[in-house]
Amino acid sequence: MIGPDRIEGYAIVSADGMIADAGGKMPDTIRNKADQNFLQAKLDRAVAVVHGRHSHEGGPNAAGRKRIVLTRQVASLAPDPSHPHSLLWNPAGATFEAAVKAIGAGPGAIAIIGGTDVFGLFLPLYDAFHLTLAARARIPGGRPLFPDVGPTSTLSDVFAQHGLRAGPPRDLDAAAGITVTTWQR
Ligand SMILES: NC(=O)c1ccc[n+]([C@@H]2O[C@H](COP(=O)([O-])OP(=O)(O)OC[C@H]3O[C@@H](n4cnc5c(N)ncnc54)[C@H](OP(=O)(O)O)[C@@H]3O)[C@@H](O)[C@H]2O)c1
Repeated sequence: MIGPDRIEGYAIVSADGMIADAGGKMPDTIRNKADQNFLQAKLDRAVAVVHGRHSHEGGPNAAGRKRIVLTRQVASLAPDPSHPHSLLWNPAGATFEAAVKAIGAGPGAIAIIGGTDVFGLFLPLYDAFHLTLAARARIPGGRPLFPDVGPTSTLSDVFAQHGLRAGPPRDLDAAAGITVTTWQR
């Protein structure tokens, strides 16, 4: 196959399903070393990383990763002057396929790493979503994983509506109450 053959999401959420606080900051209560190690190892194997302008993952190997950054500051596709191997993408002006072709991603998995609107945009396309739960953290009034999560729709509802089913939770850091569940089509 030419080009990527899988799309996989990665996030860590609080017990109430939030990825950040109301101000768009990720609190320390949902930061965990074992989860970071899990994410960074997966991203090292991804053929490209996709995220919104505020969700760069950092880490020692970040600069070497091919990445597609969503922004409305460009009309369609443009090189990213601030990061090597990086492309700015506005979905209103270019298709995802065009962005993937322009970044030159080969066979393998593309990793979607947020934030909320970007996670939502890819809901019809995930082959898998690796969702880490920080069971002891709560972020009242925070930003949900997907835009549609709210009073009438839970995270599980949204996954199910898009044909994704949960596998068994695995411990990443049992002492800290951190587990990861893979939702698959
Ligand atoms: N817990 C987790 O797993 C996790 C994961 C990801 C992020 N976060 C946290 O969430 C917070 C950031 O949240 P955020 O929602 O602001 O993140 P974001 O998606 O990274 O950034 C939002 C920006 O991305 C661009 N964008 C998003 N959707 C777009 C679309 N459909 N078309 C074009 N551009 C689009 C826009 O950029 P322009 O303004 O340039 O147009 C928008 O302002 C941070 O604290 C981050 O650390 C947490």
